[in-house]
Amino acid sequence: MGVYLHVPFCARACPYCDFDFEVVRRPDDSGYVSALAREFEERAEPLGRVRVDTIYVGGGTPSTLRGATFSKMFAELRARAGAYEPREVTVEANPEHVTREWLLALRAAGATRVSLGVQSFSRQGLVTLGRAHHATKAREAMETIHALGLDASVDLIVGWPGQTPAALAADIETIRDAGVAHVSVYALTVEPGTPWEGLVARGARAPVDEDAQADLLERCERSLESAGFRHYEIASYAKPAKQAQHNRKYWRWRDFLGFGPSAASAVATQGGGLERRVNARGFAEWARSTGDQRAILDRLDPETAGREGLWLGLRLLEPLDTSELEARFERPSGWARRRLARQFELGNVLSPSAERVVVAPGRWLWHDVIAHDVLKGT
Ligand SMILES: C[S@@+](CC[C@H](N)C(=O)[O-])C[C@H]1O[C@@H](n2cnc3c(N)ncnc32)[C@H](O)[C@@H]1O
Ligand code: SF4
Repeated sequence: MGVYLHVPFCARACPYCDFDFEVVRRPDDSGYVSALAREFEERAEPLGRVRVDTIYVGGGTPSTLRGATFSKMFAELRARAGAYEPREVTVEANPEHVTREWLLALRAAGATRVSLGVQSFSRQGLVTLGRAHHATKAREAMETIHALGLDASVDLIVGWPGQTPAALAADIETIRDAGVAHVSVYALTVEPGTPWEGLVARGARAPVDEDAQADLLERCERSLESAGFRHYEIASYAKPAKQAQHNRKYWRWRDFLGFGPSAASAVATQGGGLERRVNARGFAEWARSTGDQRAILDRLDPETAGREGLWLGLRLLEPLDTSELEARFERPSGWARRRLARQFELGNVLSPSAERVVVAPGRWLWHDVIAHDVLKGT
């Protein structure tokens, strides 16, 4: 099973972000580890019967924590897990925090992969997005990660106001030359309630031009594929054998457990349904709560869980086996094809064989439309 650990601290707030974080000068590493250990203890069931094989430490900004803290976090997890055999351990990091010493501590704790929040290598892009690092620092961080034998995954944000095709092409060239294993490409999304919304309202930022953004996303796909990356999921590109194993679990309906504020868990229930749990947001709120107050629990019936499974499954750009999906969510045979009838007509989804469906080439940009139909359609 995959385990997600949420680190709710950032050194500063990026204006577009609505993840669960608080801005702190220095996080209380030991307070965080103790609170995490308390949650492991409280959830000894199901943790005690689980074999942990992937770990993802996300945020917030995990790189605000000291390097030595990771071995403590993982030791607490190991002590409570039924079995601890992680083959992929990812830690998210902001480029300005990455040092050789920090990476060495991470590696000693068992990390295999660093997900680096580069967003852009362009000066204008970094200023527009309100980021703290310089492109040179991001390049150095990628090199050091690679030199220490860890896999580097780079996050890019595409479609920020003023981004040109030439700026994007330069970003991809930098990535191509840096020995990066994986790239995540996110379309800039203005989340309600974020400072960016106010900046747009005051005229300090142009609104996102969605057509220009779609054009950049298509260019990004072409350039990354020419650089040897395979586009395997809506937002993910990987070199051979470097797909994100932890994230694949979300897209192929595997159970996962999340710990820390705002972390989500999903566990299959008898009869094809799903039990979902979403922890309380906010470090203080999460750390002081216990038991039922710590999370919102939701039981999804098999029909609702199946729809979510189909939507998530179509994020992967490889064919999805509908009989496997129908078996997992205990849906009647032919259920998935019926749900997708309109999308077949629109040409957004194809069926290469009787039990396989896949997003049509180039139609991944329409995934929101597919999702709307699958989740809300009759
Ligand atoms: C949860 S964030 C944490 C990573 C790390 N703190 C950082 O900022 O680099 C993971 C990624 O989500 C993406 N992201 C966050 N907010 C976004 C938004 N509003 N639009 C597009 N991408 C976003 C960024 O690429 C970011 O690297
Ligand atoms: S993008 Fe990353 S660093 Fe910026 S506020 Fe969000 S979690 Fe923190």
